[in-house]
Amino acid sequence: MYEAPALSALPPAQLHAELQSQLSGLIAGEPNALANAANCAALIFAQMPDLNWAGFYYVEPESGDLVVGPFQGKPACARIAPGKGVCGAAVARGETILVPDVHAFPGHIACDAASRSELVVPLRRNGEIIGVLDLDSPLPNRFTAEDQAGFEALMQILFK
Ligand code: SME
Repeated sequence: MYEAPALSALPPAQLHAELQSQLSGLIAGEPNALANAANCAALIFAQMPDLNWAGFYYVEPESGDLVVGPFQGKPACARIAPGKGVCGAAVARGETILVPDVHAFPGHIACDAASRSELVVPLRRNGEIIGVLDLDSPLPNRFTAEDQAGFEALMQILFK
């Protein structure tokens, strides 16, 4: 059974250190990447305050589309065409995109009308982008540079 103290009251640096430590514990000894991504999405959603969606999209090699993977939140767009939305843009640019106001991001795809800000981190295996971590918040300007660094580090743990 997953039992851990709530992290919401912690300062961001400590919250990210805790998330990293808890993810390391959750995936230790489990080789199944799908299971580990599912637990990672659940961990983020349970522990990071003010999120309405947390999960993964994976590049489908045949089409180049991003296809939804394990997530927490409302049902979402199953498939995102290459370059589309914040997720497609993060893959195309090969870098994390932090969107303080989704209404100001041209081409943003609204899977949940409640989303106001977003953070998308590309996932790499052997240098190749294989998908993204997508986090949505109902609060504008929810994510900081510290959150960006924290989630980039978390993805290094998940896709090491
Ligand atoms: N907002 C994303 C689409 C995915 S949903 O937020 C879960 C985008 O613009 O790519």
